[in-house]
Amino acid sequence: MFELQDAFARKFQYLRLSVTDVCNFKCTYCLPDGYRPDGRKSFLTLDEIRRLTRAFAAMGTSKVRITGGEPSLRKDFTDIIETVAATPGIRKVAMTTNGYRMAKQVADWRRAGLTAINVSVDSLDPRMFHQITGQNRFHEVMAGIDAAFDAGFEQVKVNAVLMRGLNDGDLDRFLAWIRDNPIQLRFIELMQTGDMDELFNRHHVRGALIKEQLLKSGWQQKLRAHNDGPAEVFWHPDYAGEVGLIMPYAKDFCASCNRLRVSSLGKLHLCLFGDHGVDLRDLLAEEGQQAALQQRLREALADKKATHFLHQGHTGMTPHLPPSAAEHSPLDCFYRTALA
Ligand code: 5AD
Ligand code: SF4
Repeated sequence: MFELQDAFARKFQYLRLSVTDVCNFKCTYCLPDGYRPDGRKSFLTLDEIRRLTRAFAAMGTSKVRITGGEPSLRKDFTDIIETVAATPGIRKVAMTTNGYRMAKQVADWRRAGLTAINVSVDSLDPRMFHQITGQNRFHEVMAGIDAAFDAGFEQVKVNAVLMRGLNDGDLDRFLAWIRDNPIQLRFIELMQTGDMDELFNRHHVRGALIKEQLLKSGWQQKLRAHNDGPAEVFWHPDYAGEVGLIMPYAKDFCASCNRLRVSSLGKLHLCLFGDHGVDLRDLLAEEGQQAALQQRLREALADKKATHFLHQGHTGMTPHLPPSAAEHSPLDCFYRTALA
């Protein structure tokens, strides 16, 4: 039976599961100084992941996205995919990656049961890519995308954050790239988290501006399917690829919320910007706690609010968000930043 539903009839078939906070990239908008290890943290083990996924699946979750930090930095990452994919009821297993290990490992991931990949590529100019991510690895990441197609993925989703004065001039180049490639290119509006005031003010580009440009050049908006989540998707008759726009500042973003999040330390987060998390870890340590775990999920969901309450002065865990940050984020990597 489908139980993961809240008081607003939103259904949450989709779980985003962070398996590590560690990342080896230094994206300007996320980890400009790189990941700072904190020796006390121990991330969910494979057994804990198995029990957690089983409880969600028993209540109706059918899709799991494995995120980080950079999830593929875990040595047991392929086992994690296998474990999640083998859980009865889970039909889709996706991941979000910076692409660093993709060329070498994507075929193994696919064999283990991975069904979808999102990879971040912020620029098609190798030097700009390096500047934004702190890693001179553009060519490896692109080889990783080729390897994903070779391994049998029919589509790859690519995330890019367009920033004024950095990569905003890349729009045409990005579009040319997907003319013949079945890529869904997802432009994510830069979002202000933590102390990044200056970066935000200098580089923020409104998603609506990109939308205008797309509509002017013949792109058409697809009707939103019931469970699409928050991306607005555009297609063009001359292009093999699609464009998705993720505009976290747009109205009604929360209405399409279809996801729950669990952090790498085992806390359930119902809304990225509104809550401190419900600890699940005490119920993950051994078998035999499935009923208690499901009960805790049920109680937590009964509390899920229609939207966050930032506009009423509750800033949750991201103290410097502006009041206009009207919605929670769909993004994994934010997740790392905001919930670390
Ligand atoms: N604003 C917009 N996108 C962000 N991401 C991480 N932090 C931010 C931010 N502050 C993006 C990454 C990645 C995706 C999962 O989240 O670029 O592609
Ligand atoms: Fe790493 Fe993703 Fe953050 Fe970039 S955005 S530093 S790849 S976690």
